[in-house]
Amino acid sequence: MMSDAAGNDHVAVCNACHAGSIAVSGFDTVDPLYPTANWDGHPAGVTEGVQDQVHGLLSVLACALTTSANQTCTAASTDSNGNPVSWTITIPATRQGPVSAVTLNGTTFAIGPTATTQEKDAVYNWYLVNGEGSYGIHNTAFDVILLQKAFLDLTGENIPGATIRQ
Ligand code: HEC
Repeated sequence: MMSDAAGNDHVAVCNACHAGSIAVSGFDTVDPLYPTANWDGHPAGVTEGVQDQVHGLLSVLACALTTSANQTCTAASTDSNGNPVSWTITIPATRQGPVSAVTLNGTTFAIGPTATTQEKDAVYNWYLVNGEGSYGIHNTAFDVILLQKAFLDLTGENIPGATIRQ
């Protein structure tokens, strides 16, 4: 078990390596390598853990997939205390296709016949990260870079306000 019945994460094994200033208190830890990085473009002044930021990246990518160019949509995530964090992003004018061919119901996308390659690729990468389920804890760099690049490929621009990871 990774967590006990009360929902406490088993982090003793993490802290065999992550001692001192980079100790982790739970799986949704503030990134010990980049504690101030804003991977998903969440509002300034909010501190979020790695898992919340990967949830945020999934929200932002879903927004870009299901919203037409020059429209705004609200990305929703939760902070490390489970409180909702939401913010509005404007989908860049360079987004592929004037009208989105993709809709989302829960965690299932429907892809219309006019969907572009970029839209299909972004849906694939969204499912890959969401389905893996660790939300960045098994491989933070992979999830962050993949979702940031999927947004860039889809829209032609980087996620507004985000720290772009190389
Ligand atoms: C065997 C030693 C070890 C264990 C056990 C370990 N880590 Fe790490 N962790 C590292 C090292 C080393 C890095 C830096 C990797 C790098 O430089 O890319 C790291 C990096 C991280 C990062 C930042 C990743 C990034 O690329 O931004 C997070 C988050 C993290 N660990 C969380 C955890 C959590 C949560 C656990 C327990 C489930 C854990 N780690 C267990 C050694 C460990």
